[in-house]
Amino acid sequence: MKQTPWLGFSIDRGAAMPVFEQICAAIRLRAASGDLALGSKLPPTRVFATELGVSRSTIVTAYEQLVAEGYLSSQQGSGYLLCASGEVELTQVRDLTPPAASEPVARNSGLQPRSSAARPFRAGSPDMRLFPYRQWAKTVARVCRSDPQSLFLGSSGFGSLALRQSICDHVAEWRGISALPEQVIVTAGATDALEICLHALATPGDRVALEDPGYRPLQYFINAQGLVSDFLRVDDSGAVLPSGRVAPRLAILTPSHQFPLGGAMSPARRMEFIQWASETEAWIVEDDYDSEFRYAGRPIPAMAGFDQLHRTLYVGSFSKIFSNALRLGYLILPEPLVGRFGDSIQRFGPKASSMPQQPLADFIDKGEFYRHLRRVRRIYAERRRFLLEKLAQDFSAYGYCVDHQAGMQVVFHLTCTLKDHEICARARDLGLSIEPLSGFVQAPKPERDAYNGLLLGFCGYSVPELELGLAQLLKVLQQLSC
Ligand SMILES: Cc1ncc(COP(=O)(O)O)c(C=O)c1O
Repeated sequence: MKQTPWLGFSIDRGAAMPVFEQICAAIRLRAASGDLALGSKLPPTRVFATELGVSRSTIVTAYEQLVAEGYLSSQQGSGYLLCASGEVELTQVRDLTPPAASEPVARNSGLQPRSSAARPFRAGSPDMRLFPYRQWAKTVARVCRSDPQSLFLGSSGFGSLALRQSICDHVAEWRGISALPEQVIVTAGATDALEICLHALATPGDRVALEDPGYRPLQYFINAQGLVSDFLRVDDSGAVLPSGRVAPRLAILTPSHQFPLGGAMSPARRMEFIQWASETEAWIVEDDYDSEFRYAGRPIPAMAGFDQLHRTLYVGSFSKIFSNALRLGYLILPEPLVGRFGDSIQRFGPKASSMPQQPLADFIDKGEFYRHLRRVRRIYAERRRFLLEKLAQDFSAYGYCVDHQAGMQVVFHLTCTLKDHEICARARDLGLSIEPLSGFVQAPKPERDAYNGLLLGFCGYSVPELELGLAQLLKVLQQLSC
């Protein structure tokens, strides 16, 4: 065991606690006891890694975790500084079991945003404590100074040309899609993009194919527009093809990461859908809402890239990588649909705010966006690994998870006799926010009964917050089992 002269602390490789979390715990403890003074500079990551005999990325993960919790601040070029000391409080875990003495939650010095009380396990929410506020503020200020008018220009209802160009560069690099800015519409998130597709591609009475289980707002839009839903079962290869006598006008799919189950559509099934769309002159809308979050290997190429935007429209979102509050997403169209969507946008009016568009384009072009993406992906990967390990270790009597190495939430499939909605209702009383898998299903009984599970989001919560949430959840399961 190697001991660091700086903290007088050594790693216990036999411990259940992950190494990065041991480092966090040691720093928190010394911050809480006052051994580390406010403003102290932490050792450079490379030096500390050598001292402890761990990889540099482990140290970076630990430091970033503490930045997220408000203990440390990071400044480019000057390393990590302690910004919370002896004062500790439990605001973020107020409703939950008190944490272990070594895991206080820091009072924030004001350098990092404070979160409201954590209510694990809300799905699909990024951790806004990790948002690069300083860099974003600098970017917005730069645009305000150098090109203030760009904040108010929406360029024909399709959005800022600069952002549409940045989106083209992004999807070419990340999703294998080759498109021109003229084919891109900046939208108020992926949800707005999906609604625009329904308005432009279908008329009342048309059929629309939807995955079941699937994303609930789609059902509301379909009802509101007088359309008819064709629900597609999801098997191990992804959504199954529509089989009714009347072909749907369009199918809305999540091929890279099925929502909410999590699997990826097989290449053979993708080919079948593309062939089906060509033969029936239907459209495929690919909802790629969280594809940037893959934790192993390269992102799975988008179906729209494979189809070369022939019958497939592509929907992306900045809500998951960046902020739900920004309300920005995008829609990429096959070239022949550009005119039709232009008319539709004129009729209904664009919903995306133009203000953040030029700053976001600058943020992407200057590389800040990717720096943030790499950082959150590393932190979310640790949180996800922790959650999956704990579920396998402590919850196996109740169910299991399938590890799809992607996304912002996992489904814990229940194998016991308990009902997901009862568990979620009881968990809500204890301050947890969990959605039942059955709530995303349209199929009637008995098919519906096959979906009994808990949707557990992990991105918005630090490891100690997840640990506390899991302790609460275990209590709920134990109480309901009695
Ligand atoms: C499958 C799916 N599509 C779209 C969205 C919405 O994304 P946005 O916040 O960009 O509207 C979500 C949000 O969770 C989702 O789960």
